[in-house]
Amino acid sequence: MRPPTLTSKLLSVASLAALTHAELGKIHWRGPCNLTNETYMSESGPLICGTLEVPLDYTDSSSNKTLTLDLAKWPATKQPVAEPIIFNFGGPGENSFEGLGLYGEEFQAILGGHNDLIAFNPRGVGNTLPFSCYSDSTSRELVSLQAPGDGRASNTALGEIWAQSANIAQACYALNNQTGSLIGTSFAARDTMQVVDALKGKDALLNFWGFSYGTTVGAVIAAMFPERMGFVALDGVDNPAEVLNGYNAQKVVDVDKVLEGFCTGCMAAPDLCPLANYYSNAANLEAAIYMMLETLKANPIAIPEIGGVVTYSDIKSTIYNALYLPSSWPETSELILYVQARNTTILGNAEVYATLKSYGESASLVSSAKEAGTGVTCSDRARSASMEDLLPYIRASETLSQIASDNANGDMTCAQWNKNMYAKERYTGDFDVKTAHPVLILSNTFDPITPLAAAKNLTATFEGSVLLEQNGYGHTTLSMPSLCTAKAVRAYFANGTLPAEGTICQTDVPLFTNLTYADVWPKSFQRSVESRDDASILRALMSVREKMSRRRR
Ligand SMILES: *[C@@H]1O[C@H](CO)[C@@H](O)[C@H](O)[C@H]1NC(C)=O
Ligand SMILES: *[C@@H]1O[C@H](CO)[C@@H](O)[C@H](O)[C@H]1NC(C)=O
Ligand SMILES: *[C@@H]1O[C@H](CO)[C@@H](O)[C@H](O)[C@H]1NC(C)=O
Ligand SMILES: *[C@@H]1O[C@H](CO)[C@@H](O)[C@H](O)[C@H]1NC(C)=O
Ligand SMILES: *[C@@H]1O[C@H](CO)[C@@H](O)[C@H](O)[C@H]1NC(C)=O
Ligand SMILES: *[C@@H]1O[C@H](CO)[C@@H](O)[C@H](O)[C@H]1NC(C)=O
Ligand SMILES: *[C@@H]1O[C@H](CO)[C@@H](O)[C@H](O)[C@H]1NC(C)=O
Ligand SMILES: *[C@@H]1O[C@H](CO)[C@@H](O)[C@H](O)[C@H]1NC(C)=O
Repeated sequence: MRPPTLTSKLLSVASLAALTHAELGKIHWRGPCNLTNETYMSESGPLICGTLEVPLDYTDSSSNKTLTLDLAKWPATKQPVAEPIIFNFGGPGENSFEGLGLYGEEFQAILGGHNDLIAFNPRGVGNTLPFSCYSDSTSRELVSLQAPGDGRASNTALGEIWAQSANIAQACYALNNQTGSLIGTSFAARDTMQVVDALKGKDALLNFWGFSYGTTVGAVIAAMFPERMGFVALDGVDNPAEVLNGYNAQKVVDVDKVLEGFCTGCMAAPDLCPLANYYSNAANLEAAIYMMLETLKANPIAIPEIGGVVTYSDIKSTIYNALYLPSSWPETSELILYVQARNTTILGNAEVYATLKSYGESASLVSSAKEAGTGVTCSDRARSASMEDLLPYIRASETLSQIASDNANGDMTCAQWNKNMYAKERYTGDFDVKTAHPVLILSNTFDPITPLAAAKNLTATFEGSVLLEQNGYGHTTLSMPSLCTAKAVRAYFANGTLPAEGTICQTDVPLFTNLTYADVWPKSFQRSVESRDDASILRALMSVREKMSRRRR
């Protein structure tokens, strides 16, 4: 979706019409989505769009102001139709139409086709209280150039990021002072339950599959409405108590292990990872990557043809982001070779350069979607802090991982957030919860942003919940295909069957591979796959993997 323009933003604030309560609670399905963005048009399939009016401010019972949620539905493909499942693609700030439009067909194949799949654009995104801090990309770009993307780039970096963050927080306030307190996670939880009420009737149970920050929304819903939890799967868990109230250094605890996995996978597949030909083992390769980054600090790469400079922050952030998705690793290994060779022809290529900068530039300021994420995160945190207060957390994060971003920018922006944009409602309770049905928790063994430890923590506090560990790398279990995981998810949503405690699912393709579905099925697929259902699940998993990697590019 196009970043919302200032005009469309003001219009949508103006259209917070005072509707009567009679119109609350009913979804108006308006027909095929007619999405105008060409990305969706090719992918959005049979998506049906609709709207639902929900209270604008759940804390103000005297107000009758409402907010329009934009909903999308990928209808069930098979009879009998079972209960709908609501998806949350995380971020915060992810456009749900994009997630459901891109992967709806695959989710239907994984789940068996008997459920309507529902998603709605959360507050801050699309037309729903769009949260953006700049009215044009030129001002956004200018601000992002004022400090490096990573606090370790130099010994002046943290101070520069602090100053830049003050500007960002101020810019966000100038454009969102009326709505910035209305986009937090507790309101997202209540909106989700409004959708359930409208779909299934008051007090009905929620069926939900949340990814990444979507697991935080899911955990808050479970804590606020434990009696209404149907089948709830949380995939790629961030510790919700830390996300909402802390500084959450723990989230980067496994990142360096994912880089180790990159190096091991590379050495095992020299055809797809030419880097392997230059090193005798994975440890040497890993050391060389860290060495390359250190070198870039004092010797960034000038690209005179375009007046550009490729920096430590650019390359480090690009590698860190690639760790989310093993299907992007062959390409990342090529990039590393070109950086080592300081090949300005390749690095100065317009597309390559823009990609590196989009990861490397500071401020998470590359798009309004990131700003929406900052808006949600900072309004939830609702805590001002000085640079001195933050330093211990930033140092802790640096100690836990060499390759991860220190997230100085995000933390510093939140520390200077305007109090008028603190979330009106914040969940501050614990997550020691007994849900009506037990929750299914999913995690890769090595995830670069939502570590297994956080999934274990939530499993320990949600009574009866079971953790399914997928022995793989990347962010959420979708980052690597595993028939075993997908079948466990299908069984859970079909009838609540939980995997046995301690289940560890293996993945079905190696880390470095150029195999597509056509290659692995049925020719060289290494295990016996009996049923046609299994074949269609595997096809879907391979397709998700391919689409995710295409989308990264
Ligand atoms: C369509 O959406 C994609 C993904 O959000 C975005 O990158 C692209 O710029 C959009 N295209 C148009 C024409 O808005
Ligand atoms: C909304 O509330 C305001 C103030 O309480 C009231 O004046 C107005 O009539 C209400 N509007 C509707 C449509 O109910
Ligand atoms: C899409 O266009 C069709 C035909 O004009 C219309 O019937 C439908 O309501 C539109 N969908 C939405 C979501 O506006
Ligand atoms: C509040 O928002 C309005 C509209 O976006 C803007 O004109 C005004 O300057 C903002 N106020 C402050 C104090 O930033
Ligand atoms: C995959 O990589 C192998 C080894 O480099 C190569 O022989 C094969 O042609 C590639 N296959 C595809 C579909 O690109
Ligand atoms: C950069 O890489 C390209 C593609 O491999 C190669 O053709 C070119 O000669 C390299 N340039 C330099 C300066 O090494
Ligand atoms: C889970 O994490 C919270 C917040 O960090 C912590 O207070 C709690 O002790 C942890 N619980 C378990 C069982 O690890
Ligand atoms: C639950 O659903 C799964 C997948 O459809 C099926 O394999 C399993 O037999 C079902 N279990 C029960 C107890 O009905």
